[in-house]
Amino acid sequence: MKFFIDTANLDQIKEAQDLGILDGVTTNPSLMAKEGITGEENIINHYKAICEIVDGDVSAEVIATDFDGIIKEGEALAKLHNQIVVKVPMIKDGIKAIKYFSDKGIKTNCTLVFSVGQAILAAKAGATYVSPFIGRLDDISTDGLNLIEEIRLVYDNYMFETEILAASVRHTMHVVDCAKIGADVMTGPLSSIEGLLKHPLTDIGLEKFLADHHKNK
Ligand code: G3P
Repeated sequence: MKFFIDTANLDQIKEAQDLGILDGVTTNPSLMAKEGITGEENIINHYKAICEIVDGDVSAEVIATDFDGIIKEGEALAKLHNQIVVKVPMIKDGIKAIKYFSDKGIKTNCTLVFSVGQAILAAKAGATYVSPFIGRLDDISTDGLNLIEEIRLVYDNYMFETEILAASVRHTMHVVDCAKIGADVMTGPLSSIEGLLKHPLTDIGLEKFLADHHKNK
């Protein structure tokens, strides 16, 4: 399973990259705003800065919601760097745009996906990634992980090449469960990745190893 980090924070992206296990980055307009990145030029420079830190795919989301606008913005984003993946919302014009980008060899990430039907459409349009938001489904008492499971089943039935990018991952157990189900990618905060390191028996065991080592000196 690929590990993407879901942030526009350069320090956190660097930290995850330094761990040596990072495969890419996802951003969205809310994450950019959270870092205070506003204005077209700043946003463009920020995407370029992210691409300089990581080796893998970097999702950059369009703001337009009409076909012509999505194409114009998406083509400009794709030209910024060869790691840029154009993130397009799951709407009618978004699906048309994903098909257009796919025919042109531009990578896409279909975002704001909350149902299997939406995921089928994204795959039919040729999306590189589909982003079901599992945390937001959990927030409304719906099983987010179940959606990943169902999309996995349908994609495997038809050998769709679109990669399932489990998004809106909130914590470490989401990461583990996504791996069990067979999500191709997960994107979450740095804490969800670092949480994988932790086990109390590791800490207790290490403490004892070091204490015994020093005792025998
Ligand atoms: O990048 C999209 C998605 O991961 C958002 O997550 O935590 O805002 O639901 P969240």
